[in-house]
Amino acid sequence: MNILVTGGAGYIGSHTCIALLKAGHDVIIADNLSNSKRDTIKKIESISKKEVIFYEVDVSCEKSVNNIFSKHIIQGVIHFASFKAIGESVQNPLEYYYNNVVSTMVLIKACENFGVGKFVFSSSATVYGNNEVPFVESMNLLPTTNPYGETKVMSERILIDVANSNPYLSVSILRYFNPVGAHESGLIGESPNGVPNNLMPYITQVAKGKLKKLSVFGDDYSTIDGTGVRDYIHVLDLADGHVAALENLIEGVHIYNLGTGKGTSVLELIKAFEEVNLVEVPYQICGRRPGDIDSCFADVSKVARELGWRAKRDLLSMCRDAWEFEKNNQEICLNVSEE
Ligand code: UD1
Repeated sequence: MNILVTGGAGYIGSHTCIALLKAGHDVIIADNLSNSKRDTIKKIESISKKEVIFYEVDVSCEKSVNNIFSKHIIQGVIHFASFKAIGESVQNPLEYYYNNVVSTMVLIKACENFGVGKFVFSSSATVYGNNEVPFVESMNLLPTTNPYGETKVMSERILIDVANSNPYLSVSILRYFNPVGAHESGLIGESPNGVPNNLMPYITQVAKGKLKKLSVFGDDYSTIDGTGVRDYIHVLDLADGHVAALENLIEGVHIYNLGTGKGTSVLELIKAFEEVNLVEVPYQICGRRPGDIDSCFADVSKVARELGWRAKRDLLSMCRDAWEFEKNNQEICLNVSEE
């Protein structure tokens, strides 16, 4: 299939492009490079030994999107392009609603207008809010704590309504848990701009000495050791999950959790990282981060049953690959003052 991947130069998008190319699909990337680098396109081509078509465009711009759809015969869209920093979404809600929700509307409208029947959407476990774990796809969604989360909830609702109104359009909504790790080549991985918000990139930068110490946000949660529990999933497994969702996409709307089904605490993750990589990750316990929940992990039975997909890689390979990428990532050290 000829697949349009929005946000294909980003962290999850780039790994998914490689998985798609490996599975024999052709890839067109649309990305405005707002949180990614042009260089990643070259790396995707070098890893997969295949060429991709790249458009540097903003997919909330209808004209740019229609231009791509009119130039290529597209069979499916995977829509990753989105802002994802939670704190920033609280500071600039309008930017988040505009960028994340309008892009989804523009793209699904283009699918309708150009007769593209398959749409895969990048959602998040954040839509479950503070439900009881494990999170199951059929649960009622609870309010999220930030505009970013709301943009995912709104986009899901829009896609569900549009797909229900159009028998020629099939939609797969993928709710990611916590993607970590990197491609085994060490060439692509997660390289956030500025100080990372998420745990694994923070750990790798502390281990490398770019940052001094990790702050563990709270040790008084009702979890195994008091620190937050999350379902970390290797980005390569996540990428394969997209290929499975796309290739098995049948009529209607389908929602799947992409996680491992296993929860890991912050302290367990630090320990695993230190043990497998033989490095130290200095940390200190701090207060809770506003908006965080105790535990978040997936029920993965639906995706296994319906798509035959299951995460294969364990926590140790996630830690190993994340560290390999950090070591290869020769960016200038951030000059960040802490404490
Ligand atoms: C958050 C979002 C999720 C989003 C993801 C990627 C929520 C509830 N979750 O996930 O939707 O897709 O980011 O942007 O909105 N932690 C520390 N120290 C740190 C960083 C994190 O202790 O420096 C802890 C957190 O408290 C949490 C765990 O590590 O318990 C994971 O945090 P993080 O990597 O930021 O991901 P989430 O908050 O789970």
